[in-house]
Amino acid sequence: MPSIQSDVVIVGAGVTGLTAASRLTAAGYSVTVLEARDRVGGRTWTDEIDGVTLEIGGQWISPDQTALLETVDELGLTIYYRYREGKSVYVDADGLRTEYTGDIFPVGAATAAEIERLIAHIDTVVATVDADKPWEAPNAKALDEISFRAWLESLSDDPVAVANVALFIAGAMLTKPAHAFSALQALLMAASAGSFEHLVDADFILDKRVVGGMQKVSLTLAEQLGDRVHLNAPVRTLRWDEDGVVVTADGGLEASARIALLAVPPTLVSRISFAPPLPRRQQQLHQHLSMGLVIKVHAVYETPFWREAGLSGTAFSPYLVAHEAYDNTIEGDSRGTLVAFVSDERADEMFRLTATERRQRILESLVQYYGPAAANPVVYYESDWASEEWTRGAYATSFDLGGLARFGDDLRSPVGPVHFASSDLAGLGYQHVDGAVRMGRRAAEIIGGLLG
Ligand code: FDA
Repeated sequence: MPSIQSDVVIVGAGVTGLTAASRLTAAGYSVTVLEARDRVGGRTWTDEIDGVTLEIGGQWISPDQTALLETVDELGLTIYYRYREGKSVYVDADGLRTEYTGDIFPVGAATAAEIERLIAHIDTVVATVDADKPWEAPNAKALDEISFRAWLESLSDDPVAVANVALFIAGAMLTKPAHAFSALQALLMAASAGSFEHLVDADFILDKRVVGGMQKVSLTLAEQLGDRVHLNAPVRTLRWDEDGVVVTADGGLEASARIALLAVPPTLVSRISFAPPLPRRQQQLHQHLSMGLVIKVHAVYETPFWREAGLSGTAFSPYLVAHEAYDNTIEGDSRGTLVAFVSDERADEMFRLTATERRQRILESLVQYYGPAAANPVVYYESDWASEEWTRGAYATSFDLGGLARFGDDLRSPVGPVHFASSDLAGLGYQHVDGAVRMGRRAAEIIGGLLG
């Protein structure tokens, strides 16, 4: 059995694991990275589908995501801006389509004012939440015991305002129904992006892209790490005591180290058998987290026809199958690419259909947003992360009701020589690539301090 010895063994070659490996290597420590898949990047994956380069996973960067922007710069990568010229489209509960500008949906003056009031109110609460420790916020426990939907309904009796405000966190971010996660979890999401107002502003939250695709961040880091990164090596067992760890992966690979970093989503930790078992607290807390569910759909056309109609490609409706859509054309491509998202229970509904029926239903949303030309893309692709053995959902994990206040303060606590990190454990950049960079850096700093 091949056995590798190093200071640190890192499980997972997503952005978190590779960032930690890069930092530890630069600090002079020996590192072994074991990755289950046949590629690096985890939830970032840029691939060529039927002749078009598509971002199957994470792709956008917002201006507050400074850790990722620094990494992009350090790696010599470049960025460009998402296309956003022209009007957005909103479709209401009656199927009425309106073109508009600005961030607030065209929903009638009273509801628009109510949406603005709700957003302002939420942001006064967000200001009291430290994204790194939301469980310490005033009333954290009470805010974690009420669903986001119930909380919004307690703040407003305008159902259209509630549906629209809920969309920004439920369908658009945590990709769970608003009844399935707490107000505190929603406040963490907003605090992690600076404010709720930022989540509402598509031009802020979906600002920039990496030339060549977001996976380039991982590919470049992995290239620098060379043969320290082992692919096709799913870690199955981890033996540990106070002196160190021994992990085994498929292919008979064994790696021993003084410290292990599990750079995987917390929902996948229990896929590894631990000897001795992880303590009660970790066993419990990992069971209170779950992945959201979203289908990211790409539709590519001969031309970006919506631009000629004065549309930016940005479209929203809490009522359609695809609740949001954007222009996702790669800079310099003469074709036009739209990306649309189908979340949570609507994704369940779509996955009950055949592939042909599903495509037709999803394209119907695009036709409602952009007109009949949207019905016939030359390339159509659905990202299906929930079927991926080493992810099992998208975009990321969040707690059930009460879980964040109850378990949050132990999310990042190490167990002996076993440390945990992932974008899902981040404060700033929570659930985002920026959070993965931050968690990777943090883990490297703590582990470096322990190794001395
Ligand atoms: P990640 O899951 O990427 O990496 C973990 C790695 O561990 C994986 O490579 C996995 O294979 C491996 N692994 C798991 N178990 C293992 C085991 N037992 N042994 C060995 N290896 C194991 N973010 C953003 O900033 N902007 C965006 O636009 C989007 N959009 C978006 C769209 C979609 C469809 C998805 C799925 C995600 C996004 N995100 C995003 C989220 C972002 O992609 C995500 O938060 C980070 O890439 C997560 O990086 P991590 O390294 O923490 O985990």
